[in-house]
Amino acid sequence: MDLNITVDISRAKSSAVGSEHGVSPQELKDLAPRVEQLHETLVDERKRQVYGFYDLYKDDATFQDVQATATGFLEAGYDNLVILGIGGSALGTRALASALLPPFHNFVSGRSRRNYPRLFVMDNIDPITFRQMLKVCPPKKTLFNVISKSGSTAETMAQLMIVVEQIERKLGAQAMKDHVVVTTNPRGDGAPPSHLHPVADHYGLKEFAVPLNVGGRFSVFSPVGMFPAAMLGLDLIGLREGCAVMDGRCGVASLDENPAYLRAAFQYLADVAKGKTVSVFMPYADGLAHTADWYCQLWAESLGKRYDLDGKEIEAGQTPVRALGATDQHSQIQLYREGPNNKLINVVEVKRFDRTLRIPDTLPGIDALDYLRGKSMNKLLQAELKGTMDALKVSQRPVIRIQLPRLTAHALGQLLYMLEVETAMAGRLYNVNAFDQPGVEEGKTIARDLMGGRG
Ligand code: PA5
Repeated sequence: MDLNITVDISRAKSSAVGSEHGVSPQELKDLAPRVEQLHETLVDERKRQVYGFYDLYKDDATFQDVQATATGFLEAGYDNLVILGIGGSALGTRALASALLPPFHNFVSGRSRRNYPRLFVMDNIDPITFRQMLKVCPPKKTLFNVISKSGSTAETMAQLMIVVEQIERKLGAQAMKDHVVVTTNPRGDGAPPSHLHPVADHYGLKEFAVPLNVGGRFSVFSPVGMFPAAMLGLDLIGLREGCAVMDGRCGVASLDENPAYLRAAFQYLADVAKGKTVSVFMPYADGLAHTADWYCQLWAESLGKRYDLDGKEIEAGQTPVRALGATDQHSQIQLYREGPNNKLINVVEVKRFDRTLRIPDTLPGIDALDYLRGKSMNKLLQAELKGTMDALKVSQRPVIRIQLPRLTAHALGQLLYMLEVETAMAGRLYNVNAFDQPGVEEGKTIARDLMGGRG
C-alpha cells in the first residue's frame, strides 16, 4: 500500500468548474516560472537557516532529549499533562493528540490509556475553565508544560503564575521541578530574553529551547509539539519519517511533482484571480478536526499581512475556515453550495480507517432505512464525502482533495509538513513575510498597557 498522501486538484480546475471559478492550465503555466524562481529563494534561505522549520525533524539530539525526558517523567507517573500556551504553542499539540490518540483518551481508565497521562491544552484565560482544570488536575498528579517562545505572552504567564502559586502552596517550591517543564527561546546567541529563563533557573526546571529561527505556528516538530507528543506515547519516529518523505517531495520546483507548491499555486490563484478569498479546510475524520484549527492559524497569521515585502500596502491573505465532514454538511455546506462563490474548499479524506463499524439490521419494518442495513459507517462517510464533492462541482465550487492512506503518524507528518511548505511558498507568491505577525504583537502590547504593564 502506498503510504504517500496525495493532492488532487482536478476539481479546482477550469475544466471542472468553469474558467470564472477554476484555474486554467494557462494560468498555472504562467505562474510556474515564478514558483521556480521563488523555490530558489526558499532553498537559499533554508541553506542560510533563515527559517528553521524545514529541518526540525532531522534534529536527532533534540529528539533524544525530548524522548529521554518524557521517559523519565512517565516513569515517575502523572495522571495529567497540562499544556500552558497559546496560538502556535498549543495548536500543534492539539492537532497531534486528536489525530493520533484514541478518541475520548481523557475519559478512559489509566490502564486503557496504557498509563499515559490525560491531556489538557489550556490555550485561553477563561477563569471558569482554568479554575476547573486546577480542580480536575491537582498539582500532585500533574505535569505542567509551559510553552512560550517569547516567554512574555500575558495569557501564558498569567496561567503559569497561578499554577506556581498552587504548586508552592500545596507541594512546596522544591516540588516545582517535578511538576513544571519549560519550553521557550534558547539562551544566548542574541536571543531575546524570556521571562521563563529566570523561572527555570530559580526552580531548577527542565527547559527545552525553540530554535530562534522557528516561529510559533511552524514549531510543531520542535519540542513545542514533540515533548507533549512523547509524553502521550505518540509515534515520533512515524512523524519524523512522514516529514522526511514530504521534504523529499517538496525538494523540487515542479508543480507536477511538488504537492505543497501545487497547492500554494492553486490557493494563491484561486484568491487573486478567481476571488476565492476564503480557504475552507474540511477533513472527513474527527481526528483531523484540530488539524483544521492548526491550518487556520498557519494560513491566517502567515499570509494575512497589510504590507508586502516592498512596504506596499496590499492587505493580503485568504480567510481560512475550519469545517468538519460530515458534521458541517448539515451546517455550512448550504452556504458553500449556494452562497457567494468565494471559497476554495480543501476536502481531506482518510482512505482507510483503522476500524470498521457495521450498521446492524435493526429497526425492522422501516423500509426507508434498508439502504443503511448491513453497510458500514465507513462506507456512509465515504458516500457523504463523494456526494458533497459532486454537489459542489455541480454548483461550480472549486475543491482540492487531499487523501491520507490512513490516519497514522507517518501520514500526519506528511500533511503538516506539506502545509508548512505550502504556506512558505504562498507567502512568497503574495510577496509577504509569512513568518512574522505584527498584527498579533500590537494587540499583545496594547493589552499589556491596559493591565498597567510597560512597553
Ligand atoms: O505563531 C505564532 O508565532 C503565535 O501564534 C505565537 O505562537 C503565540 O502568539 C504565542 O506566542 P509565544 O509562544 O511567544 O507565547
